[in-house]
This record gives sequence, structure tokens and C-alpha cells, in this order.
Amino acid sequence: MSEKPVVYLTREIPQDGLDLLEEHCTVHVWPDPVEPPHERLIERLAELEADALYCNVADIVDEAVMDASPSLRSIGTISVGYDHIDLGAARARGITVGHTPGVLAETTADLGWALLMAGARRIVESHQRVEDGNWETWGPTVLLGRDVHEATLGVVGLGRIGTEFARRAAGFDMDVCYSHTSPNESAEADLAEYGIDAEYCELDELLDRSDFVSLHVPLLEDTHHMIGEAELRRMGESAVLVNTARGEIVDTGALVEALEKDWIAHAALDVSDPEPLDPSHPLMEYAPEKLTITPHIGSASTETRSEMAVMTAENVLAGLRGETPPYDAFEDAGLK
Ligand code: DGY
Repeated sequence: MSEKPVVYLTREIPQDGLDLLEEHCTVHVWPDPVEPPHERLIERLAELEADALYCNVADIVDEAVMDASPSLRSIGTISVGYDHIDLGAARARGITVGHTPGVLAETTADLGWALLMAGARRIVESHQRVEDGNWETWGPTVLLGRDVHEATLGVVGLGRIGTEFARRAAGFDMDVCYSHTSPNESAEADLAEYGIDAEYCELDELLDRSDFVSLHVPLLEDTHHMIGEAELRRMGESAVLVNTARGEIVDTGALVEALEKDWIAHAALDVSDPEPLDPSHPLMEYAPEKLTITPHIGSASTETRSEMAVMTAENVLAGLRGETPPYDAFEDAGLK
């Protein structure tokens, strides 16, 4: 039997991360592009007597997974979010958990802007029109969208990604307001250096004022369905909602109604509840005119995913050595 610790990966990862793991561990990778079913994940960890699990946002890592292999002592998720992992259960079992904060903030903010622009200027609908052979002529009233420049941007959650998202508003001369658990003075100071005077306000005021609302809060009990019927009604019929955070932050039923009844103009989503979203889901009826959607690709650039893969490997290896991971989920979740 191998002397090296055994790491189980639920998906293929960028090569740099794999190379680092293979220097120190015996590595087993689930070969399919879709994650192992929960039962299969449990079976594989048990069969392999795995010491570490390298997972991602699509894997539910609960007590049953943690108990699958008695030797399991380290978990790394290739994501900043850890809402798919039962942190309390991991901590109680002495299993370390690492994640990837910071590294993906700019890449995710870039995607948020792609979605905002797509929603504002009807990009997907316009593309579709050309592809369908319906580009008849130039028209003074054809495919009119919304101006982004000089509009008001509301950033819900001014953490790392929210701050990067807000920073990008500088090029568009926007008024920026934000909501957060409390005023984030250090982020305000960072944004001021880029000429952005980000104004703290309560969520309701932000929704009333903003032409574009972008969500950047983690999924917690408090943020689950934070945007429901009342909030969508407040936003107004020309407003665009952008979500690159987690689908469950928005009440999907209320969003369907908001699009149907024109409470808002457009939802531009990289995340949804459920995920993946089936083409037959009621939300999809509104695409592309009122809905732009991408399949949870916020951090999906070659450079960022490669860095995330290495960070996750470093987290996993630290846990296997009995050390606290360099990017410790317990600390970032306030559990220490
Ligand atoms: C994360 O990192 O939590 C994203 O949602 C996946 O890239």
C-alpha cells in the first residue's frame, strides 16, 4: 500500500494544481465532467480510504461524506464559497477546510460587468436576431436598451468581489451606493482612490435608487431569499438585477413573477436556484429579452482557475500535514 496520503478529486482540475498534489500524494480523480452522485462520492472515499477530499461548489459535503473514510482529515474546495460544506461538522471531526478567497474577485467582477452590459444593451437578444436572419435594417426604435454611463449602481455586499465590481464603475461615471452589514470604510477608501464616492445605505434605499443592482453577499441564513417579492417590486420597471453570488439569495418564484409582470426590466444571472437550470424552467421563458443567464462561470478564466487549483492544493496539503490551511474557511467564517 502507498505511503503517500490519498486525495480524491471530484473533478479534473487545471494541471498546476494536479502537479502539486501528485508530488506529495496518491491522486484519484472522478473522470466524468459531471460530479459523482452523493452516494457514489461516499462509496469512493470509503473504497480509497481517502485522507483528503478536493471538491467544488457542485458537491454537497455533509456529515455522511465526512464519515465515509475514517482517515479523512483535509478538505479543499476550489471556490471561495463554502456553503456546500458543513463547516460545523468538519470542525467537530478535526477535518480542516480550505477555500480560495481573493484570487477570483477580479475575474468574477469582470463577468458581473459582462452580464450587466448584456442586460442593459440587450446583447444576447441582438445576437439572436442576427443569427436568426432578422437583421432587416438600422432602426431608430429598434433594440433600445438602457444607458450604463451616469446611471446609479447599487452593490449589495461590499466585500472583495463587490468592491472590485464597484471599482469598475469608475469608467462609466456612475453614482455608486452599497449595502453591507455595516459601513465598510476601508473599501470606501480603496474606491475613493479610483474617484468613486461609494455611499452606504440600507438595502431598501439602494433598491429604490439604483438602475442596476448587483449581488455580492455570501449565502447565509440571513441572505437566503434576501431579494424577494417586496425587494423586486421596489427596484422598478427599468431596473436590471445582476447575480454572480448564489442563486438562493433571490427567491426564484418571485423573480419569475417580476419578469412576467415587468416589476424589473431584466435579470442577468450567473447563478440560479436550482442549478443547473433546465431549459424548461419557468425562468427560461423570459430569455433572452428579460433574462440573460450563464452557467456559474464567474471565476472561469484560465489564469484564475489555475491559481485556484494551486491554492486548493496548498490548502489540502497543509491539512494533511496537520497544519491550518493558508486559506482557512473556519477563520473566514468566523468559527475561530
Ligand atoms: C465560488 O468560488 O464560490 C464560485 O461560486 C465558483 O467559482
